Amino acid sequence: MKVLVTGGAGFIGSHLVDRLLAEGYEVVCLDNLTSGTTDNLKHALKHRNFRLIKGDIRRTRDVWKAVKDCDTVFHYAANPEVRIGIPRVHFENNILGTFIVLEAMRKYDVRNIVFASSSTVYGDAKVMPTPENYTPLEPISVYGASKLACESLISSYVHTYGLRGLSLRYANIVGPRLRHGVIYDFIMKLKRNPRRLEILGDGTQRKSYLYVTDAVDATIFLWRSVEKEYDVFNIGSEDSVSVMDIAKIVVDKMGLKNVELYTTGGVDGGRGWKGDVKYMLLSVQKLRKLGWTPKHNSRESVELTVTSLLEELETG
Ligand SMILES: NC(=O)c1ccc[n+]([C@@H]2O[C@H](COP(=O)([O-])OP(=O)(O)OC[C@H]3O[C@@H](n4cnc5c(N)ncnc54)[C@H](O)[C@@H]3O)[C@@H](O)[C@H]2O)c1
Repeated sequence: MKVLVTGGAGFIGSHLVDRLLAEGYEVVCLDNLTSGTTDNLKHALKHRNFRLIKGDIRRTRDVWKAVKDCDTVFHYAANPEVRIGIPRVHFENNILGTFIVLEAMRKYDVRNIVFASSSTVYGDAKVMPTPENYTPLEPISVYGASKLACESLISSYVHTYGLRGLSLRYANIVGPRLRHGVIYDFIMKLKRNPRRLEILGDGTQRKSYLYVTDAVDATIFLWRSVEKEYDVFNIGSEDSVSVMDIAKIVVDKMGLKNVELYTTGGVDGGRGWKGDVKYMLLSVQKLRKLGWTPKHNSRESVELTVTSLLEELETG
């Protein structure tokens, strides 16, 4: 079976590519290599069942070329930055890009799409852990809004054009090859100045983190087991860690002593930036009921990630 992974040269996408190849699928990757790299694909590029198309989901012809003859599209290409958001960039890469992917699927009669959505669709949820049927869905970042818009588009194509769709609302996914988010940010800051670490916000932000192998495992599991035409699942761990805890883990793993940890205080009651969801914990009961549980909790996921990123940065 041939599958397409858009954004397959990125962090989560490349782990998904590796896993799909290991399981015997033929994999096409469409990526414009803006944040993704061929380095992430060094195993895949040696594989005879793998093809990389350097192209853009905003360009119809690139997408046509990639989608044709595939059974499933794992749609992971996006601008994943919650923080640095230029609304048009999110609109074009995330919403317009998804629309172009769906239109190509319609043209070539490709029926299955698995979409990388996000916990940010919930905004500041009042129920925690937050279940999939929580309402109102009120994103507080343009990124979150773009993910919710994509979910809606996919649902509409399922109901109108007979596609099958899965929207996966990931918590913070971390692990080897990660190049954005708080863990990577802290490591880079401490490499520049090992004496002081600036923490955006008031440091009490608490969120759930999931190791990338668990995330990929849940993704493949759901792709194979869900029978409904369209469904939505949270994918996360069952606990959370604070930003201050993450800072301490990074300092500790880097073997640093007497580091001054200082918070910027943040905006709107201690958020790191406007649009930063301060507390996030997803309910994974729906996923659990199908028989899947994560192997690592949030703290372990963060610790494993810091260790692997330090190794990666050391070996270049
Ligand atoms: N990392 C997380 O914690 C997390 C959480 C929830 C959802 N997601 C979603 O998962 C997906 C992957 O995120 P990631 O963390 O691996 O980020 P990433 O930046 O490593 O991966 C995104 C990939 O998409 C590619 N890309 C971006 N715009 C493109 C375009 N216009 N055309 C073709 N390729 C393009 C990039 O080059 C990159 O390889 C994204 O959709 C992101 O929104 C990530």
